Amino acid sequence: MKTILQLNTSIHSDNGQSSRLANQFVAAIRSDEKLIVRDLARDPVPHLDAERFGAFVATPEARTLKQDAFVAYSDGLIDELKQADVIVLGLPMYNFGVPSTLKAYFDHVARAGVTFRYTDKGPVGLLTGKKAYVFAARGGLYAGTARDTQTAYVREFLAFVGITDVEFVYAEGLAISDASKAASLAKARASLRNLVPALA
Ligand SMILES: Cc1cc2nc3c(=O)[nH]c(=O)nc-3n(C[C@H](O)[C@H](O)[C@H](O)COP(=O)(O)O)c2cc1C
Repeated sequence: MKTILQLNTSIHSDNGQSSRLANQFVAAIRSDEKLIVRDLARDPVPHLDAERFGAFVATPEARTLKQDAFVAYSDGLIDELKQADVIVLGLPMYNFGVPSTLKAYFDHVARAGVTFRYTDKGPVGLLTGKKAYVFAARGGLYAGTARDTQTAYVREFLAFVGITDVEFVYAEGLAISDASKAASLAKARASLRNLVPALA
């Protein structure tokens, strides 16, 4: 059975526009796949600090019980990614960047020797063979411009861990006017529907 991992990162959980688009997409593509939903507003990942990072790089034999717990938590997040054939990410823009909860999540799943490894040709991602869909919601207009800090960053991070097949759908201009919001959401829903046959 295939698995879909849905990451919702809106502070509004299911009520965020990015989560709604992600939910609609998952409803459209899902038949008998297992669905794992991780909502980072309901269940936030802690910030990475030196203590946690120290646990990630300690050898298993040298770890304290506390360090074992930090590693087990990170391993749990990574196991969900490893299981996933398809990753669906709801991505709001907050203060010109990704939600801080998503950054904390990324900081917990980037693990040398686990999700990527260093080689003499540079780092190689280990989470290969997956497809990701990103539903980006923004108040303003950024897509296709240098002001879009999110797209390159998210693509770069996912590629770093081996996820290179990534589609973005944008709902932009949500704060410009009611008309702009309605038109943008309608366009995003149409783009979302157009992606569904590509899964077959
Ligand atoms: C705290 C906060 C900061 C925001 N910062 C930006 C921003 O920098 N640029 C922008 O275009 N929209 C910004 N917005 C608008 C959101 O991108 C917009 O409301 C979008 O729908 C958020 O996604 P969500 O509905 O899934 O939470 C911000 C909204 C909030 C609540």
